[in-house]
Amino acid sequence: MALTDSLLVRAATGRPGPRPPVWFMRQAGRSLPEYRALRTGSTMLEACRTPELITEITLQPVRRHGVDAAILFSDIVVPLVAIGVGVDIVAGVGPVVDKPIRELADLDRLRPLEADDVAYVSQAVGDLVRELGPVPLIGFAGAPFTLASYLVEGGPSKDHALTKSLMHSDPQFWHALLERLAEIARAFLQVQIDAGASAVQLFDSWAGTLSLADYEQFVLPHSRAVLQPLAGTVPRIHFGVNTGELLAAMRSAGADVVGVDWRVPLDEAARRLGPGAVVQGNLDPALLGAGEQVVDAAVRRVVAQGRIADGHVFNLGHGVPPGTDPDVLTRIVETVQNST
Ligand code: CP3
Repeated sequence: MALTDSLLVRAATGRPGPRPPVWFMRQAGRSLPEYRALRTGSTMLEACRTPELITEITLQPVRRHGVDAAILFSDIVVPLVAIGVGVDIVAGVGPVVDKPIRELADLDRLRPLEADDVAYVSQAVGDLVRELGPVPLIGFAGAPFTLASYLVEGGPSKDHALTKSLMHSDPQFWHALLERLAEIARAFLQVQIDAGASAVQLFDSWAGTLSLADYEQFVLPHSRAVLQPLAGTVPRIHFGVNTGELLAAMRSAGADVVGVDWRVPLDEAARRLGPGAVVQGNLDPALLGAGEQVVDAAVRRVVAQGRIADGHVFNLGHGVPPGTDPDVLTRIVETVQNST
């Protein structure tokens, strides 16, 4: 296993070090001026297919904040684009799909992903692992449900009504769709592991829109098909927003670490997850603008609550919001790194 003694891998495997490792979802891009400078002249998806840009953007937050892990600069739709699905990432909106996928005949557009389809990712991961030295690189993929929600709705959605109604009205189509997406996500993670990633995160960002019963019936088996085959490779982190009711089920999909948003305190999350749980999270991103005193106190509270679990990876409860002052993030890293 790569970088076994890094704080990230130690925490993720239930052998925590003296303090939690810290990194931020969406640390690459977003709030950094050096990111915006580098991105002028290329679209998001062009940047995601250019190894030099992937590498540099991934390294920027590591240099600036001294975080304990890097996350690959990419997007959950990159493997879909790589197999020829018409998706664009529209600034301020998110992924937008040319022709939504809503019936069995549409599934022909979702062929399996081959490593060659994402050679730029393999190259960037290999280069990054050399550049990062002792700092672990986290690879990632979008989970079948979250990918399906974009493909079915055609773009971002608040209530995911079409997605939810389709899973109930046409379960044959639904399960066939999620089977294909699971295979794509698994292959995308395997590419990153083969190239040297030290951990992977499966983003099921919108799974929290589902009831536990629907999650167990329509989603869990497919997320399990992504995560279970990777057992014994590198630690697997499984994250979603608003998943307080789903935490134990998400763990049972085959996660070594369960990501928790800000709604459930980490000690309570650890209780819901059961013995041996490792948690990631969970500072409310909305607090980042509330001033030093508020942020410091909230960081200390998260660190203290995380001690109940068998391991804790410090993070926000969701991604870094676009307008965040980067100095606030640097200070959080210092606060966590000085906590023992
Ligand atoms: O964490 C990181 O810094 C690594 C890079 C990363 C991006 N997207 C880069 C990105 C990661 C891990 C993602 C995952 C992702 N993409 C998720 C799951 C994580 C989550 O936040 O829940 C989702 C749902 C997406 C889909 C997506 N892509 C959205 C909703 C958006 C935001 C659109 C917007 O502009 O508000 C994107 C675009 C995107 N992905 C940006 C970045 C840096 C911003 C685009 C830009 O800089 O031009």
